[in-house]
Amino acid sequence: MNKKNNLIDPTTLTQEELDDLYYDIPKNPISKFSFNTIENFDDHINKSIPNYDILLSSIRSMSEYFFVEGTNVYDLGCSTGKLLKSLYTKCNKIGYDVANLLPQEEGFINADLNNDFDLCDASLVYSIFTMQFLNPYSRHNYLRTIYDGLNKGGAFIICEKVYQDNGKFQEIFSFSHYDYKLNNFSSDEIISKERDLRYIMKPSSESELDSMLRGVGFHNITTFWQMFNFKGIIAIK
Ligand SMILES: C[S@@+](CC[C@H](N)C(=O)[O-])C[C@H]1O[C@@H](n2cnc3c(N)ncnc32)[C@H](O)[C@@H]1O
Repeated sequence: MNKKNNLIDPTTLTQEELDDLYYDIPKNPISKFSFNTIENFDDHINKSIPNYDILLSSIRSMSEYFFVEGTNVYDLGCSTGKLLKSLYTKCNKIGYDVANLLPQEEGFINADLNNDFDLCDASLVYSIFTMQFLNPYSRHNYLRTIYDGLNKGGAFIICEKVYQDNGKFQEIFSFSHYDYKLNNFSSDEIISKERDLRYIMKPSSESELDSMLRGVGFHNITTFWQMFNFKGIIAIK
């Protein structure tokens, strides 16, 4: 079947041919994207999120204001552990992740953060593009565990991909991000990953994220970094 032929009579086509013609979507709607199989994860995230390197170096500098010797620093959804490994601190470093990117080293713990997890005596907690992958109904418990486990004066640094509350900004930011990704990925790779992510990534809107943080008790909250829909927030208990 030649899709470019405008003279196709749709009544002569099978359902399968109609689907190919009008939708061209994968037949099996299961996400192929997995953090377990992604090659060279650190390079991939660097190419996917604009200014990700600046984000990480900003997090490292801000963190110095919060380290308290002997307390705990947590990275929730730490992937390869690169952020924790790059910190110079006398705090105990603890990283959680469910994917097999996790280093087989002391302090790195395999855990599904949709479930209850241990977090206590924390001077700093990071959640860097992780909560967007949790079930929306687990998120209150996730944030509550973080708030309760943080010491007074401790900081929570959370980065998330968010939906803009204003539709025009949402459109501009999404498509400007695709423009950026075209520097590193083909259009087919971009659209295919977007399709895969539909099943596993559920961003909150900007206002939902703010009210979830306030809902568990954070009041000192500010944005320290933003590129299009990717946002970095610091909240102090
Ligand atoms: C976009 S990556 C960000 C990783 C890391 N924070 C970074 O900046 O490189 C999201 C991370 O969240 C982890 N993740 C997703 N769902 C999770 C879950 N239910 N429990 C624990 N980790 C999860 C993934 O395995 C992945 O490492």
